[in-house]
Amino acid sequence: MTSDTAVDKLTEDAARAELARLADVLAAANRAYHTRDAPEISDAEYDRLKARNAAIEARFPHLKRSDSPSEQVGGPVADDFAKVTHAVRMLSLSNAFETGEVAEFDARVRRYLGLAADARLTYTAEPKIDGLSLSLRYEDGVLVQAATRGDGETGENVTANARTIGDIPARLQGDAPAVLELRGEVYMSHEDFAALNDRQAARGDKTFANPRNAAAGSLRQLDSRVTARRPLRFFAYGWGELSAPLAGTQMEAIARLAALGCPTNPLTALCDGPDEMLAHYREIESRRATLGYDIDGVVYKVNDLDLQRRLGFRSTTPRWAMAHKFPAETAWTRLEAIDIQVGRTGALSPVARLTPVTVGGVVVSNATLHNEDYIAGRDAQGNEIRDGKDIRVGDWVQVYRAGDVIPKVADVDLARRPAEASPYRFPETCPECGSDAIREEGDAVRRCTGGLICPAQAVEKLKHFVSRAAFDIEGLGAKQVEAFYKDGWIREPADIFTLEDRFATGPRQLKNREGWGEKSARNLFDAIAERRRIPLDRLIFALGIRHVGESASALLARRYGDWDSFLTAMDRAADFTGTDWDYLNNIDGVGPVMARALVTTFQQEAERASIDRLAAHLDIQPVEMPKTEDSPVAGQTIVFTGTLEKMTRAEAKARAESLGAKVSGSVSARTDLVVAGPGAGSKATKAAELGVETIDEDGWLRLIGDA
Ligand code: IVH
Repeated sequence: MTSDTAVDKLTEDAARAELARLADVLAAANRAYHTRDAPEISDAEYDRLKARNAAIEARFPHLKRSDSPSEQVGGPVADDFAKVTHAVRMLSLSNAFETGEVAEFDARVRRYLGLAADARLTYTAEPKIDGLSLSLRYEDGVLVQAATRGDGETGENVTANARTIGDIPARLQGDAPAVLELRGEVYMSHEDFAALNDRQAARGDKTFANPRNAAAGSLRQLDSRVTARRPLRFFAYGWGELSAPLAGTQMEAIARLAALGCPTNPLTALCDGPDEMLAHYREIESRRATLGYDIDGVVYKVNDLDLQRRLGFRSTTPRWAMAHKFPAETAWTRLEAIDIQVGRTGALSPVARLTPVTVGGVVVSNATLHNEDYIAGRDAQGNEIRDGKDIRVGDWVQVYRAGDVIPKVADVDLARRPAEASPYRFPETCPECGSDAIREEGDAVRRCTGGLICPAQAVEKLKHFVSRAAFDIEGLGAKQVEAFYKDGWIREPADIFTLEDRFATGPRQLKNREGWGEKSARNLFDAIAERRRIPLDRLIFALGIRHVGESASALLARRYGDWDSFLTAMDRAADFTGTDWDYLNNIDGVGPVMARALVTTFQQEAERASIDRLAAHLDIQPVEMPKTEDSPVAGQTIVFTGTLEKMTRAEAKARAESLGAKVSGSVSARTDLVVAGPGAGSKATKAAELGVETIDEDGWLRLIGDA
């Protein structure tokens, strides 16, 4: 029997047979563990078998199987977590890196609230934990659900896993609100991380790159017993849904959470303005190395919760908070080559290929070089950067990394420049399709003029189309799209929706393709079918029109309401004049550059035909105006003019939009209502001429029930 033979005594044939047996036994053990929740072997036996498998693989590396158990960290992939819709969206934070940005944040908050520079305004400052966020729902003080952030709206149900984390109370102490959605960060300490990696290595399992990855990998395990063996911790820093307010201020609310038994960070402080915020930032930074867990900055929050409510949110970040990140980490290495990547809008982006170097714990081998001016030592205005030093292949360059952003090449060491290094010549033709690559007046970027004939642009457009904020088709990510494009199966977005008809039968069935089986092919077709019904804003974003990002797409969708109205308006604006063109330009958040890009896209024949082919497969969901039945202004177009005294213009606009109204910058026959404060000039006059209803600020507040 080979199963007892010592590894160093195994012949090659016996080793091959033993690896096959172990793959079977371990897969069966995993299935028993995961799906039937009825383990057939003990944890110790499981560990022993995995170690034996690793030892055999180490002795006979060429015999390692494609389904090797050592490639599997815990259970199957996370597709199987149930989805949870967050009662209150989980957002991210805007980032700042410079000292001066703290005063700017304070000024922005004051401006929005209409507070004088000398009015008292306090903030909390606390460490930004480098882990992953978790939402814990307590009902009547009992933990009922835990969910990861996911895309902010929908996360994964990880309740069973969260219950295994010692820091997370199963039951709150004292008098908790009937509903409390606790928000915080799951993380792993340095010490626990090192020990875990040692254990993983000893068992021949994958090790983790850093504590955050280890925490994420551990929380997102389908088998909660795996999570239970991982030393996870938790800090609470906020909340989502609440049946009753926790307190009047952030600081008191955090104290209340602590009193309920939730772990809160001891370095949270109350600061009276930017100077104290910066002082606390430096204090936290000085303790960073000895904290025992990773932090990547400091988070500032407006302390008064009423003001937080008034400030509200931008599309993905709160106005009342900001993350002040620690300075970027840097390292020097050699620039081996400069490659050019072609993006979805045809932009040629230079990428530095580097001799791999560790920057702040992460190995970096690629970095961005921005554009040709940057390589040449100039900014977009033609001014010198890096004292005018250019960057050449062969140079020693300084690389820096800040947070999760793409590493950048910051500087070059002329003293170490090889004699033969010559200035970099930026290509004037597209390296992918050979079309001319041109720079338009005032544009720092050189672009391929190949349009849809350029394979790089087509593929990048497709990748964007299936990305998370766009169509987000499960099982069809960047990698799959690229492969399908290469084979000619998917050339444009519309092809995604005919994939099943074209390839469900005959020799080119998807299930005959490597990496696909009957079940995964079925799942893919189902996932595609599910996305035929698509909200208008996602569709607009998915088209990948230059300058039109996620929040602009949402804005456009809200303005035009449905696909037909949107298309008609774009067509009517085609000559860049007239009411429809003005209307588009007057949308707050849409400038002339974006307006032109939009209109032009729909006028380009090939592009338009491709969009029409796509739309024919879709059921495009019009925008639901928020709370229409309670809102007296839903769907109305409102203009604010003159001075508002009880709120700032920005606040009024955000409030009106949250009630489903559209806010416009100019009065026209389409305006439903003008809110005029003192000093209102021509807009009020025009409203009177056109017979548009005009009210004052108090009238507005009464109308929306805020008086
Ligand atoms: S407050 C509305 N406080 O940072 C969002 N977030 O970059 C409020 N994070 O998704 C978040 N430490 O996962 C907040 N003390 C802290 C934090 C913190 C870490 C994470 C959180 C968030 C991410 C945003």
